[in-house]
Amino acid sequence: MKNIEIATQIKVYADRTELPEDIFNLLEEAEKAAKNAYAKYSHFKVGAAVLLNNGMIISGNNQENAVYPTGLCAERTTVFYASAQYPEVPITKIAITAIHASNPLTIPVPPCGSCRQVLLEYEEKFNQPIEVIMAGESGEVYVVASVSELLPCTFHGGFLK
Ligand code: THU
Repeated sequence: MKNIEIATQIKVYADRTELPEDIFNLLEEAEKAAKNAYAKYSHFKVGAAVLLNNGMIISGNNQENAVYPTGLCAERTTVFYASAQYPEVPITKIAITAIHASNPLTIPVPPCGSCRQVLLEYEEKFNQPIEVIMAGESGEVYVVASVSELLPCTFHGGFLK
């Protein structure tokens, strides 16, 4: 028997003003998208913005439904659209933030487990890491170099070969 330890590296910026310009701008797009979220039931409005290898930015938000599980998170709405429109262009970064009117978010908003799995698929597809930027409405911003850092011991396409 042996123990293994898996560590995740997170860059922590004290607030948005410390961010490099490209990340700051991407987060602004995510924030704009969050404002347009359809979050009628949770009132938790999430926005995501992806930067593609060709310099394009695509943003999206969560879309809820009266039949709760049929809604979709902001991250998946965004990457599915990006992949549908630009199937051959790798995704290099994703910024995520949220707005919670009754309880303003002071800690970074991470992608849920299902979104991590979906994002990982595109890392694998293009054999290129996707940087993940996570922010609340204020406070620290987390930056992780790759989705795989957020989803260790992953099930990936290699198992299906
Ligand atoms: N949500 C996202 O859009 N992304 C996440 O990673 C976490 C949760 C959405 C789903 C639902 O519409 C609302 O936030 C509350 O869970």
